[in-house]
Amino acid sequence: MKIVVIGGTGLIGSKAVALLRQGGHEVVAASPKSGVNTITGEGLKEAMAGAQVVIDLANSPSFEDKAVLEFFEISGRNLFAAETAASVRHHVALSIVATDRTDNGYFRAKAAQEKLVVASGIPYTIVRSAQFMEFLSGIADSSADGNIVRLPPVLFQPIASDDVAAAVAEAALAAPRNGIVEIAGPERAPFNEIVARYLQAVGDPREVVSDPEARYWGGRVEERSLVPLGEARLGRIGLDEWLRRSQSRA
Ligand SMILES: NC(=O)c1ccc[n+]([C@@H]2O[C@H](COP(=O)([O-])OP(=O)(O)OC[C@H]3O[C@@H](n4cnc5c(N)ncnc54)[C@H](OP(=O)(O)O)[C@@H]3O)[C@@H](O)[C@H]2O)c1
Repeated sequence: MKIVVIGGTGLIGSKAVALLRQGGHEVVAASPKSGVNTITGEGLKEAMAGAQVVIDLANSPSFEDKAVLEFFEISGRNLFAAETAASVRHHVALSIVATDRTDNGYFRAKAAQEKLVVASGIPYTIVRSAQFMEFLSGIADSSADGNIVRLPPVLFQPIASDDVAAAVAEAALAAPRNGIVEIAGPERAPFNEIVARYLQAVGDPREVVSDPEARYWGGRVEERSLVPLGEARLGRIGLDEWLRRSQSRA
């Protein structure tokens, strides 16, 4: 089967490409570096020729509210025009748990991306993931004020990128759900506790303070704002195992 992975050079994209190639599929790792750009449209027609499945794992180079919204809207429109012309049979998109019930600029952009997927007329599966463990460092930085990291004690369930890539590859090989699959890590604990465990393990001296008023990327979050509410596919790699693996790779 020919599968196009948009964002195939990224964190999740490169792992999904490797898994699908191991399974014997013909995989195009599409990204600006390989001459495929969903914003300009460059290379899209050629990449899509003969493809049955497209997996969209691209991300915006800028996380500024307006820029990220424009990225996912323009990228989505160009992608669906090319996929429709090529009669693609299944579109898989990677989104975020709770994009529809948590308010911040990045989540609004992902919600707009999801709307385009549903309206595209192409059979689809939306995989909504909890935050990646690889993103813990970025979260700590975004919530830091000097040596203090303020985070709300809401529930948090990060997932390792290896587990995300496996779930995305599985979704791409299954029939389209025309719906949403949620995925998260195997452990659920307060946000501040998980980030404190992470910082301690990597030898970062910053102190994590539990602050119910602290925001997540500028948005207010409640106890269950960041975790799946219903049944979710759980990853196999817990935080301690992920830390061991990343430290042995370093
Ligand atoms: N971070 C989280 O916790 C989290 C949680 C749930 C879902 N997600 C979603 O997961 C997805 C993948 O994230 P990631 O961290 O794997 O991304 P990443 O490592 O930042 O990779 C981004 C990819 O997008 C490609 N790209 C950028 N502009 C493009 C364009 N104009 N046309 C085509 N490709 C373009 C990049 O290509 P080049 O290498 O050529 O620049 C790269 O392959 C994102 O959609 C994100 O919203 C993230």
